[in-house]
Amino acid sequence: LNYNVQRERGYILQVLFNGLRRLEYRGYDSSGIAIDDSLPSPINGCSAPPPLVFRQTGNIESLVKSVYQEIEATDLNLKESLDVHAGIAHTRWATHGEPAPRNSHPQRSGPDNEFLVVHNGILTNYQVWKQMLLRHGFTFESDTDTEVIPKLAKYIFDQSNQGGQTVTFSEVVIEILRHLEGAYALIFKSKHYPNELIACKRGSPLVLGVKESAEDDGSGFFSSNKSPKELFFSSDANALVEHTKRVLVIEDDELVHIKDGCVSILKFNRNRGNNGEVLSRPASVQRALSILEMEVEQINKGSFEHYMQKEIHEQPESLTTTMRGRLIRGGSSKGKNVLLGGLKDHLMSIRRSRRFLFIGCGTSYNAALAARPILEELSGIPVTMEIASDLLDRRGPVYREDTAVFVSQSGETADTLNALEYALDNGALCVGITNAVGSAIARKTHCGVHINAGCEIGVASTKAYTSQIVAMAMLALAIGGDTISNQARRDAIIDGLFDLPNKVREVLKLDQEMKDLAEQLVAEQSLLMFGRGYNYATALEGALKVKEVALMHTEGMLAGEMKHGPLALVDENLPIVVIATRDSCFSKQQSVIQQLHARKGRLIVMCNRGDAASVCPGEATRLIEVPQVEDCLQPVINIVPLQLLAYHLTVLRGYNVDQPRNLAKSVTTE
Ligand code: G6P
Repeated sequence: LNYNVQRERGYILQVLFNGLRRLEYRGYDSSGIAIDDSLPSPINGCSAPPPLVFRQTGNIESLVKSVYQEIEATDLNLKESLDVHAGIAHTRWATHGEPAPRNSHPQRSGPDNEFLVVHNGILTNYQVWKQMLLRHGFTFESDTDTEVIPKLAKYIFDQSNQGGQTVTFSEVVIEILRHLEGAYALIFKSKHYPNELIACKRGSPLVLGVKESAEDDGSGFFSSNKSPKELFFSSDANALVEHTKRVLVIEDDELVHIKDGCVSILKFNRNRGNNGEVLSRPASVQRALSILEMEVEQINKGSFEHYMQKEIHEQPESLTTTMRGRLIRGGSSKGKNVLLGGLKDHLMSIRRSRRFLFIGCGTSYNAALAARPILEELSGIPVTMEIASDLLDRRGPVYREDTAVFVSQSGETADTLNALEYALDNGALCVGITNAVGSAIARKTHCGVHINAGCEIGVASTKAYTSQIVAMAMLALAIGGDTISNQARRDAIIDGLFDLPNKVREVLKLDQEMKDLAEQLVAEQSLLMFGRGYNYATALEGALKVKEVALMHTEGMLAGEMKHGPLALVDENLPIVVIATRDSCFSKQQSVIQQLHARKGRLIVMCNRGDAASVCPGEATRLIEVPQVEDCLQPVINIVPLQLLAYHLTVLRGYNVDQPRNLAKSVTTE
């Protein structure tokens, strides 16, 4: 919303389109916008024309193109309307219904756009309301769960206004919220309330960006009596940072109402009633603003062609920031140590745990798997690995004596978040390892470690993976006792951490070599990756990278299981990557290589520099030689060539590196 300043015509469209472009990295399949048709004024007031809605499938540029084409083709009236203050926009990743304009958001109450809603999340009880609305004569145009919301708004508005009563916009929305179950972040717009927007959330993320007026008193408190210049709602701070760094992280069951440039915030409580949860009467609250620690440059590609490429190459820096201020080099009187401020009040309880559960999805799960051996070694406490959705499917036992560690780059993944709620209900001590400060997982866990890798835009996670491993290695050092017997091991790991960014810089020099390898593999159908011990995770994560971006069938496998099935696949055609860097499993991997060679396997072996002779059974074997580091940190080095391989394979195969088919960066639905 742009209140106190005169902007050029069409500013509202520029803001909305840029916001959508900032979110496009999340890999969505359709988009839409709604803006007022003309500036509301005391003259037209409530009889203002309905908002204009544009919706389109495909990328953001197809929406932009279609909107400007329509503007060109229409009358002057529409052109003048581009001075308006308020608009909403949305990118969609289809859950209910195929990508199509009618399924895109804003969803509407009817063809005359009386009520419009954009929604992130999934409603679980929409069928009940759909049936009720159908009985009342409403017809539905989409297959979405969302469409019931604007229709409920119209129903409630019409009912409430019978008999000459007037109902406020917040009253309409509050009534709707009483009926919704599931996850949502919602923004409402209505022809009956021009120049007003309402946002509310439960389970899905939402922030309000505030660009204050010149007379901002800098108190950091946000109240309705200040009139900001511009206000922005977004599910992702990326879309706001070019406008403002002052944000309000909206909490569950808060409703934010913007009217004539002023903001009011209402908060509900949920009480258990006879028929389920009942929302209390909302009370007005004041909230403090936070400052985003993010620079616009972080979300630009710089000199790189793709975000994924940039993020692979910035790992020396992202790892440095992950460790900054947390490692103590030691001196004459002090030993080397690790300080994790976010854990300090809970460290003793964590050490007393009977068990750790590592919980995550996708790459975050793989990072936890890579860190598991060192945590077990240094703490002596067993670690159970849990894919978040599987823990919930089984309702696996979780106890008060457990420490549950939730690993998530975005801090918003629905499966991980649901597993967190489950672990909290079961009384476990919950620790978050996240990249997004202020994310749901960061807020809801008892304590945690931010990985500080900087904003990650590529859907295929790269720098967050290596920072997660390092954060969890530091967690292992912080938890593991500082005894004389393990001092040498601890010192070696801490020295290894200090040197890790340099070693990553060295391994990045394999870029051209990985491009050459990608050229050899470009036309393959399948690829296998074998690892074990610390590097089982490397095999899984390397395979996940190739699979998700290069769209090549790739399996990561535990080398110890090779003879129990996968060996049947081996022939002279199928390329196989074997990770055989130095650790306690090295001799076993040498034997795996021999067995694969004996069956004419097409081998690509990753080994430490200088080990070629020990791992190379024949001339045809292709080597990837990487620098050696402390064994528990070796997965950080070993994944880098595989990230580069996945990147180059994707470019060569002509696929979209940053927005792989069907995938989203942050999966906020179950
Ligand atoms: C999605 C992304 C993956 C990511 C996973 C977990 O599937 O495509 O790249 O690893 O979610 O995301 P999180 O934000 O919880 O780490």
